[in-house]
Amino acid sequence: MQPPIPHEHRYLERRGQIEHYFDRTAVQAWERLTSNAPVGRIRATVRAGRDRMRENLLSWLPARMDGLRVLDAGCGTGALAQVAAERGAHVIAIDLSPTLVNLARERHRLAGHVMMGRIDFRSGDMLDEALGEFDHVVAMDSLIHYDTPDIVQALARLSHRTKGSMLFTFAPRTPLLAVMHRVGRLFPRSDRSPALEPQAEPVLREALAAGLGPLGWQEGRSERVASGFYTSQAWEWKRA
Ligand SMILES: C[S@@+](CC[C@H](N)C(=O)[O-])C[C@H]1O[C@@H](n2cnc3c(N)ncnc32)[C@H](O)[C@@H]1O
Repeated sequence: MQPPIPHEHRYLERRGQIEHYFDRTAVQAWERLTSNAPVGRIRATVRAGRDRMRENLLSWLPARMDGLRVLDAGCGTGALAQVAAERGAHVIAIDLSPTLVNLARERHRLAGHVMMGRIDFRSGDMLDEALGEFDHVVAMDSLIHYDTPDIVQALARLSHRTKGSMLFTFAPRTPLLAVMHRVGRLFPRSDRSPALEPQAEPVLREALAAGLGPLGWQEGRSERVASGFYTSQAWEWKRA
């Protein structure tokens, strides 16, 4: 049995909302956004931003990853896992949404490249200790709906099982995001995605330094991607 985590109620409640959203409400929109199918202007900016973000994160991983274990934490439709496996990694690609994981598996099968590594697809919680140990963990836009203590807690839990680096993204607190956040709250509850939890970078830094520093981790590279309606910031944390 895993040890209880602080604020577990809040984490579980939020996790349930996220799972419902990505497994039911948003499946089709998400399938389309992550494909090559045409999308409207606004979504096109999001798609372009997300492509840049994925390339950025992948550029922080080794060019060859033969024999390395990588966790794609909140893999969605599996685009990042695919590239990591092409570089030779053994990827565990996990997501709360079984529907998205099935889609990821199907896309992987259709991609049909000769692959040096391999991907194990799972549906469930990225924090599950049964997933084992990793050289690198990547959480692209999968922690953006959690608040600061939950982000720190998630990374602290993953850090015990990670040898190299943890790469994740957060929604930076910007004036535009603050407005979008307020506008988002005007939509009927059923149409809404779980609210983003914009993070003020200095506050998040302090919280991560306090949570991960004593565990032997330090911050590395950081890069913000802003493309129309997509704004996200990548952060590398690595063993000191
Ligand atoms: C915005 S999507 C991003 C998906 C993918 N990383 C990408 O960039 O295309 C966030 C994903 O994180 C997943 N997620 C959120 N919390 C999770 C958790 N605790 N364990 C596993 N997956 C999680 C959601 O189900 C969702 O599919």
